[in-house]
Amino acid sequence: MKDKLNYAVVGLNLGLEHVVSILKNPRAVLVGCCDLSVERLADAAHVAAKMGANPEKIIFTDKYEEILASKEIDAILIALPTSLHTDFSIKAMEAGKHVFCEKPLAESLEQALKIRECVKKTGKVFQMGYCVRSSAFHKKCLEIINGGSIGKVTNVWWNMFANYKDTGWRADRKCHGGKLFDCGCHYLDILTLWAGAAPLRVCAFGNPLGATGPNKNDLPEIVSVIIEFENGVKASFNLSQHSVNCQGSTCGVAGTNGKIEGDPYYPEKSGSLNVHANGGLYKYNIVINGEMASQGHLGFNEQHDTFIDAVFKDIPPACSVDEGIKNEYLLHAIDRSITEDRVVYLQEISG
Ligand SMILES: NC(=O)c1ccc[n+]([C@@H]2O[C@H](COP(=O)([O-])OP(=O)(O)OC[C@H]3O[C@@H](n4cnc5c(N)ncnc54)[C@H](O)[C@@H]3O)[C@@H](O)[C@H]2O)c1
Repeated sequence: MKDKLNYAVVGLNLGLEHVVSILKNPRAVLVGCCDLSVERLADAAHVAAKMGANPEKIIFTDKYEEILASKEIDAILIALPTSLHTDFSIKAMEAGKHVFCEKPLAESLEQALKIRECVKKTGKVFQMGYCVRSSAFHKKCLEIINGGSIGKVTNVWWNMFANYKDTGWRADRKCHGGKLFDCGCHYLDILTLWAGAAPLRVCAFGNPLGATGPNKNDLPEIVSVIIEFENGVKASFNLSQHSVNCQGSTCGVAGTNGKIEGDPYYPEKSGSLNVHANGGLYKYNIVINGEMASQGHLGFNEQHDTFIDAVFKDIPPACSVDEGIKNEYLLHAIDRSITEDRVVYLQEISG
């Protein structure tokens, strides 16, 4: 029986980081790379050679059809702008390939549902790149929550600080552009897992910095979101996209008997946690040793293990298409709440 997964990576900006993860993984083989840019293809060939792979055994092409037609390729990793996820994922599954697609799922709910239809029709494995789910940081938080030492969860939070302007497709709200959606989607996903229930309703405010009032057509850069979950847990998510002096995140979980304060991007490590448990009886700090991917994405390498297990061992992927769609509902509810200046119930989006 086959024990190595033959991958092709399509889109070689973030995709180059996937190339590295695949080359490092003993259960993965890189057999194809596709990008419209000749320079990016050359970068991938260079990285592959540097990491000990033979570039002559890898297909480097600007034509996706060549990747689809290759019998050698088992799985396609799609790291393209979000607006291309639907078309490329569907073509891959119809060509008999498993798909690992970057987040967010698609630029519209209609397209997201088309991907799900195709997953069901073809029976192929489909995993989404919500990499933080696969991180030791998140898993440790979940372990503490489920261990019960902080009591029943009441609140979860994530504060995100960044300092850059979005350009290209990332500046287009329709494509889930902007830090709130393009990057915040990871943390909104994690907050949902820590809350342990589906979101019920959201209230969100946000506007571009410097605007004198709400600017409904632009990307929200300063944002506050409150989510209430079906079990009563409340989440707060704050974004400041103009934090010159502070970049990164702080996050946490409060329960009826304690709390966890998290520093997910603790320098050079894979996160650190301050835990106050059993009503303050125990206070301890955990520093998570682990390998960070080159651009510092939590859980980036680990997510490939779950994908490979999903293909070979028939276990659920780290983030399924259904979970990706639930995240889409939340992103759309937040967007609607900001745009329409009101509380939005998830049911209005999911129907
Ligand atoms: N998991 C994470 O933490 C994380 C981080 C960054 C980006 N992402 C996601 O990854 C995806 C890609 O992001 P990015 O920053 O690499 O985008 P990007 O626009 O910088 O790069 C996309 C690459 O795809 C190539 N490309 C575009 N159209 C193509 C086509 N038709 N055929 C072949 N190649 C094509 C481009 O030449 C470019 O090299 C997005 O969905 C983004 O949200 C995820």
